[in-house]
Amino acid sequence: MQQVEHAEPQDFDRVLTSMCTEPHPRARAAAERFLATNPGDPGTYETVAEMETEAVDLLGAVAGHPDPAGYITSGGTEANIQAVRIARNRAETNNPNVVAPRSAHFSFRKAAELLDVELRTAPVVEHRADLAGVAELVDGDTVAVVGVAGSTEYGTVDPIPAMAALAADAGALCHVDAAWGGFYLRFSDHDWGFDHADIDTMTIDPHKGGQAAIPAGGLLVRDETLLGELAVDTPYLESTSQATLTGTRSGAGVASALAAMETLWPGGYREQYDRAMANAEWVAEALTSRGHEVVGPHLPLVAADVSVPMTDELRERGWRVSKTGAGELRIVCMPHVTRSMLRSFVADLDWY
Ligand SMILES: Cc1ncc(COP(=O)(O)O)c(C=O)c1O
Repeated sequence: MQQVEHAEPQDFDRVLTSMCTEPHPRARAAAERFLATNPGDPGTYETVAEMETEAVDLLGAVAGHPDPAGYITSGGTEANIQAVRIARNRAETNNPNVVAPRSAHFSFRKAAELLDVELRTAPVVEHRADLAGVAELVDGDTVAVVGVAGSTEYGTVDPIPAMAALAADAGALCHVDAAWGGFYLRFSDHDWGFDHADIDTMTIDPHKGGQAAIPAGGLLVRDETLLGELAVDTPYLESTSQATLTGTRSGAGVASALAAMETLWPGGYREQYDRAMANAEWVAEALTSRGHEVVGPHLPLVAADVSVPMTDELRERGWRVSKTGAGELRIVCMPHVTRSMLRSFVADLDWY
């Protein structure tokens, strides 16, 4: 117990790798207030259950859907698993497959394994799904085509409308993984939302760009019938069925997501996007002018060919940085990343 009292949580001063961020003060306060509530039992915890409906409506506004269904998940992993589960349960094949680009988050591998669905990975061109490659993998047993809107490693956005059309032609669902990108994309020129394409399900996480406290992921679905694919009976609860993957779950995430979105949608998120993109462009330019090869920013994320010894030195100096699968250094310009933080990061690079 003493250990916990003396331990300091990670501060964000040198964190350039996380896709999460410091919660907005109102989101933090809401999480603390609703810590002991359980939206998994809406008959007992009515207030937080009502808040969840409002949170889903606001998430729908961000994602371009005026009347969505869905719920606040534990994170993007749960939302992706549930989206694959919807697609599998709805389809009639005994041999289901999901087609996703190689850039898709590793949570789809977990989903495929858990749900006994084949995961077919399509090639990417410049870190975006290659449409012809996707089309080649889609067949009569395809239950979902996954498009990534804001890839984890490069922040790239797949051709979502064309992928949705491919899915519809095959009788499959189109799932968009905007877990990280969603809260930025609304202010960009990309076509990615329910208002841009015929998509069925989406992952969009308040605990990433939404500035909510963890755990607050988001699953949105086009209509209630899709959520019905997940429903199981709940005999001992006052409510009669449950669509979530977890049973008891934290009301902190729900309250925090709602507080963040009530506070920041839309103006605060627009400012966040403008500031984060300006920072990403600034650091991309700083790295380019020092001779590094840079990918992005498509969204507020930059990848650059910084050598392993240089990266090790940055880590020695306290920077939290990570590498892509191909070995580039990733810099994620989340809301806690300031210009002065980036200046001191670049100064450390120069020192090397
Ligand atoms: C695009 C994308 N999808 C899904 C996830 C998984 O989200 P979580 O870690 O909240 O489960 C991430 C995590 O960074 C992500 O970047």
